[in-house]
Amino acid sequence: MWPPRDPFVSIRPVSCGILHADTVFCILSPDNPPMKRIGILNGPNLDRLGRREPKIYGVRSLHELETALRVDAKALGAEIEFFQSNHEGLLIECIYRWADAGFGGMVINPAAYAHTSIALRDAVAGSGLRAIEVHISNIYKREEFRHNSLIAPVCAGVISGLGFEGYHAALYYLAAK
Ligand code: DQA
Repeated sequence: MWPPRDPFVSIRPVSCGILHADTVFCILSPDNPPMKRIGILNGPNLDRLGRREPKIYGVRSLHELETALRVDAKALGAEIEFFQSNHEGLLIECIYRWADAGFGGMVINPAAYAHTSIALRDAVAGSGLRAIEVHISNIYKREEFRHNSLIAPVCAGVISGLGFEGYHAALYYLAAK
């Protein structure tokens, strides 16, 4: 039976060797749990990082952020998946897809939807995913309309103003929990 039905048996190989010329066997260990999967969700306009208002958001691109987070995830033994969209409905569908797939948590930068989207808040709450909201800039130092996040109350925590470091800190937290 492959993969094994027993939920206590990990399907992560702990050692492998060659049985026959073309057959790989793996020894499974109950002490070796499956990798935690963590989603990194970015909302509207964050695909423009590096080119968009660099004085506020810095000069590094979304691709550079994702590359750096992949390095961290590997060191933490976590699996990460990225999604960015400028469309509210696609962000919502992604949250439910990750929840249904059994993800262990989500780092979410809802961007401007933080201040406006009840639908996105409902999706975060309804997904049951442990979520950390991240903002690159310090939203409390900026225009008043950015001071309130509708998403924050349904998240485990919020990091605002630490630049890309905020994503790294949130990933460490979720990987450790
Ligand atoms: C942001 C802050 C939001 O107010 C803004 O609309 C963004 C980016 C941040 O990461 O600092 O698009 O979420």
